[in-house]
Amino acid sequence: MPILVTTPNGGVGRHLTEALRERSDVRYFVRSEAGAKALDGVRGEIFRGDVTDAADVRRAVVGVDRLYLAHPFAEDQVAAETHLGTAAVEAGVRRIVKLGARPFAGDGILPDAVTGAHDLITARLHSVGVPELTVLRPDRFL
Ligand SMILES: NC(=O)c1ccc[n+]([C@@H]2O[C@H](COP(=O)([O-])OP(=O)(O)OC[C@H]3O[C@@H](n4cnc5c(N)ncnc54)[C@H](OP(=O)(O)O)[C@@H]3O)[C@@H](O)[C@H]2O)c1
Repeated sequence: MPILVTTPNGGVGRHLTEALRERSDVRYFVRSEAGAKALDGVRGEIFRGDVTDAADVRRAVVGVDRLYLAHPFAEDQVAAETHLGTAAVEAGVRRIVKLGARPFAGDGILPDAVTGAHDLITARLHSVGVPELTVLRPDRFL
């Protein structure tokens, strides 16, 4: 199963799901019943699990070559993305595309928590040796 997609119903992820819906080599990591239902009609595999659950993550990354990694901005974001990314690398993933965010910058602007979380996750992904890492940094669209 070459591609693992997290948050396939997310603000960004649902557009990725639309682009991949005819492909059979995609695994969609989805937590809720409603989320699984929303993926009705995709050709790939719907994987039910929670990214904060170590056993779910271990099963989800088996056989995966590429990972789209995203998680809502929340208290568990750094741990969840770091753990999933690390497990994926250990399972042989070649490429991770991580959803980040464009940092706010400029005179008098303090570093923000969203940017801090993405920077920390990105540093940890580098440190576990992801062969190919792409970090997307879109502007805030809310
Ligand atoms: N919004 C912006 O303006 C903006 C701009 C730039 C970057 N970003 C970045 O975008 C990222 C969020 O991406 P997004 O907006 O595409 O996603 P999102 O809409 O926040 O993702 C929501 C999805 O996450 C799933 N989810 C939450 N906790 C989960 C868990 N423990 N296990 C499995 N699935 C879980 C939920 O699945 P269920 O429904 O099945 O529970 C839900 O469908 C953040 O890192 C943020 O910094 C946002």
